[in-house]
Amino acid sequence: MKKIRKAVFPVAGLGTRMLPAAKTVAKEMLTVVDRPLIHYVLAEARAAGIEHFVLVTGRGKTAMEDYFDHSVELEATLKAKNKTALLDELLADLPKEGEISYVRQMEPKGLGHAVWCARDIIGDEPFAVLLPDMIMDATPGCTAQMIAAYEQTGGSNIVVVEPCPPGMAHQYGIVALDGQSGRLNPMTGMVEKPAAGTEPSNLFISGRYLLQPEVFDILSTQERGAGNEIQLTDAMLKMLAGGSPFHALEYDGTTYDCGDKLGWLRANVAMALKRPDLRGVREMIGEELRR
Ligand code: G1P
Repeated sequence: MKKIRKAVFPVAGLGTRMLPAAKTVAKEMLTVVDRPLIHYVLAEARAAGIEHFVLVTGRGKTAMEDYFDHSVELEATLKAKNKTALLDELLADLPKEGEISYVRQMEPKGLGHAVWCARDIIGDEPFAVLLPDMIMDATPGCTAQMIAAYEQTGGSNIVVVEPCPPGMAHQYGIVALDGQSGRLNPMTGMVEKPAAGTEPSNLFISGRYLLQPEVFDILSTQERGAGNEIQLTDAMLKMLAGGSPFHALEYDGTTYDCGDKLGWLRANVAMALKRPDLRGVREMIGEELRR
């Protein structure tokens, strides 16, 4: 069983649900409290022992490359002003040299296509995929829980799932299980964006995956699926049909889907409430509700 060392972050999406801001600010750079979304997701992967981060970017996303690099002028200014705690925090959060790669998805052909764009950097080893819209708030982190499930199952592919809000299944990938006991269950199928009423369960794929590298061979056929996009779910289904085991994991934690405005606002409130340095938040929310 090979160690999971690398993770792919598909960050090329246009973010139409976060317009007008997403017109010029990459949606992954929208802040939740005081750090961009991608910061939380990368930190989750790093906390799980991931050693190499692959960002699949697109046009208009260069701010992320600057974010994960030194800002020489800023660092010099913080040093001159003796703001060492802030400087240390900024430096501690940076990936080390050579730990992060960027690859361009030149056309928006779907999630499967985005993952396939990382094939040469991942090579022949299992890897994680983290969709950056989702903040998974958990201890240990969601990726760490997936890796524990990967080890427990002897190297199965892992897909994180959670109960789908009523009437929403047609917006997600939905899994089929071989019975259900506990949080980790073998999968028998999956379908991307099923027509209303045809979903095989109420569990949707919520944006975290551990995959064996054979997914790249399947994705290389560039077959289109739901929405005329190259779907990761379709490639995983073919792996499953070919005998590669998949397990669905209901991780222990709370998911904030920041891909739309309400979810993003909620994440801001939830993360702010957890911050010891922002003690006035609860009172502030109360005041706004009474206004
Ligand atoms: C993608 C996946 C889908 C998954 C969803 C989670 O869909 O294809 O299986 O349930 O992310 O957010 P998208 O959001 O790109 O339509």
